[in-house]
Amino acid sequence: MFKGFDVRVWPSRLVVRYFVVFVVLAFLFTNYYLWSDWQTWDVDSYQPPSGPGVAQHPIKKLMKDARARHNEQLSRRSLDVATAAARYREARGRHPPPGFDLWFQAALDTDAVIVEDFFDRIYKDLTPFWGMDTKMVRDRAHSWPWVVRVRNGTAHGDGDVEGRVPWLQLWTGLVGEFAEGMPDVDMPINYMDEPRLLVPHNQIAKLVAKEAKERKMPDAKDVKREYQGLAAVDEAKPKLYDPRWYGFSDSDYWSLAAKTCGPNTPAYGVKAEKDFSKPAEFPSHYKPSYVEEGYILNWTSAMDPCEQPHLRQLHGSFVEPVSMSSTDELIPLFGGSKLPMNNEILIPGAMYLTDDEFYSGGESHGPQWHWKKTAAIWRGDASGGRAKAHTWHHFHRHRLVDMLNATTVSTAEASGKRPVTFEPPDTSIYSSSRAESKELGKWLGTFADVGFTYLCPPGQCDYLTDFYHVVERIPMKTQYTYKFLPDADGNSFSARFRGFMRSTSVPLKATIYAEWHDDRLTPWVHFIPLDNTYRDLYPVLEFFGDGPGGQGDAAARFIAEKGRIWAEQVLRREDMKLYVWRLLLEWARVCDDERHALGYVDDLLL
Ligand SMILES: *[C@@H]1O[C@H](CO)[C@@H](O)[C@H](O)[C@H]1NC(C)=O
Ligand SMILES: *[C@@H]1O[C@H](CO)[C@@H](O)[C@H](O)[C@H]1NC(C)=O
Ligand SMILES: *[C@@H]1O[C@H](CO)[C@@H](O)[C@H](O)[C@H]1NC(C)=O
Repeated sequence: MFKGFDVRVWPSRLVVRYFVVFVVLAFLFTNYYLWSDWQTWDVDSYQPPSGPGVAQHPIKKLMKDARARHNEQLSRRSLDVATAAARYREARGRHPPPGFDLWFQAALDTDAVIVEDFFDRIYKDLTPFWGMDTKMVRDRAHSWPWVVRVRNGTAHGDGDVEGRVPWLQLWTGLVGEFAEGMPDVDMPINYMDEPRLLVPHNQIAKLVAKEAKERKMPDAKDVKREYQGLAAVDEAKPKLYDPRWYGFSDSDYWSLAAKTCGPNTPAYGVKAEKDFSKPAEFPSHYKPSYVEEGYILNWTSAMDPCEQPHLRQLHGSFVEPVSMSSTDELIPLFGGSKLPMNNEILIPGAMYLTDDEFYSGGESHGPQWHWKKTAAIWRGDASGGRAKAHTWHHFHRHRLVDMLNATTVSTAEASGKRPVTFEPPDTSIYSSSRAESKELGKWLGTFADVGFTYLCPPGQCDYLTDFYHVVERIPMKTQYTYKFLPDADGNSFSARFRGFMRSTSVPLKATIYAEWHDDRLTPWVHFIPLDNTYRDLYPVLEFFGDGPGGQGDAAARFIAEKGRIWAEQVLRREDMKLYVWRLLLEWARVCDDERHALGYVDDLLL
């Protein structure tokens, strides 16, 4: 070693050695600093800040309570099939469906987090079908024009998809990953962006009551394990069951939707808005049950239009959707998103199954927190429904962009005249020195970078030119260099949310669209919830946007990191597959003449 190295020549061996060590350390340190991004930051030991000032803020309490709720949920994680089956029986009042053991094994094999609550949506969606005649359900599912079918353990997509988006292929691909060992099943899918089923409340209530009355848990020895299969219905080839579809000439969307609201909800019997020429109207003295001190407490209610009749003039889906073809009859239909009041059966949006960077943000999840700009960014089309000259100011996307437009807000502050799209937040609920000193507009000038990348075909929306101009698109990975990512519904749900969740930035979300993942995400832990009016938008951004060293900033970073790590555990393709797998086991049972006798009971017979 070191043969021929002359120790008498400067630099001495010792100095060289120190130098080499220094270079190596410097190299390692730089690498660590540059690339440590997500692996090394110990989120779980991190506590949201508690100090004077912040301690008083309602958001701090909401974060603390939400964390406790999430941890409590995690403590009920099932780690073996017997526990999972027991929790199933306790929650659902039935035996799990046959095939539950294979399903659970696949969950174990992929380290999936299995908490029974995460699957609540499946039962909300399927319950009414238990109240319907089995053959009717089976025939209607079979005869739909677009169906993912499983036969003899193989999945194939059935239907004419020429010139259409590849949703049927994407969903068939997902089902194909677990079709082996599955019972025969037909999954009819909705090919429209908008959900289509709006069955009036009293009809659903009857079906739900019937299900509850007939629900039973037979003795293990009487339980059947074999599904009857669908050979008979393939043979019989039932004709398409096409219910009456309502279009714009029959009704407006709100009037059909409000019929699904129960008699105890605020929207019950509320008529559609007829006059959209007035400015968008926030409800006054608004203290809904799902809010605590002005901030979202209960996310499930916060996305439910039955709880918020004012949304009939504050969301594009109710002002005027792009298309409308709805029925008030219950037919089986699976889709990627719906309003809580729709009767579709939810599956993960097909966009979540593509590699399209537009939705996923690609493999770039953004830089570390301290390299991000303390600012909010939003880009998107002026969609969200069919806006017109006399209605556009009631649209949710237009409201979001206007509220974050520094010019609009400064002008309103200077003139004292409210903008047409929104009302300034109520200072009796939200205290804000910026709002009081009329400096919100000035602040937004550096804090918000928002705009539409597309307004309408040339010349067709000149009424918007005083309010908006088209701005350049910004790729997702560049958007991730901003800390705050507000997310707004489009014509239906915003398929960017999963990409936002997986990024190192923090998503802020208001929506009226339910998705498969809702029961596994906890607001204030994994993302920041917003009211659909956006009246809490400024107070939320002011709290979290206090910049490096600030306590709100640390809290935002916590949610960003916690959300990203959680998304990598429960929003993976494997998790979507497990969700649909379990759903289709249940669905195959609902469609089986022996539905009440079928079950998984191996754990009880040991
Ligand atoms: C499924 O398998 C059965 C028996 O092996 C066969 O009779 C039937 O034709 C098969 N069906 C399909 C759709 O391949
Ligand atoms: C939220 O509200 C719904 C009713 O809309 C209720 O069923 C649920 O228990 C509430 N959740 C929490 C966490 O309070
Ligand atoms: C912001 O609002 C002003 C009018 O208040 C409008 O001229 C401008 O185009 C808006 N900016 C964007 C990005 O739409």
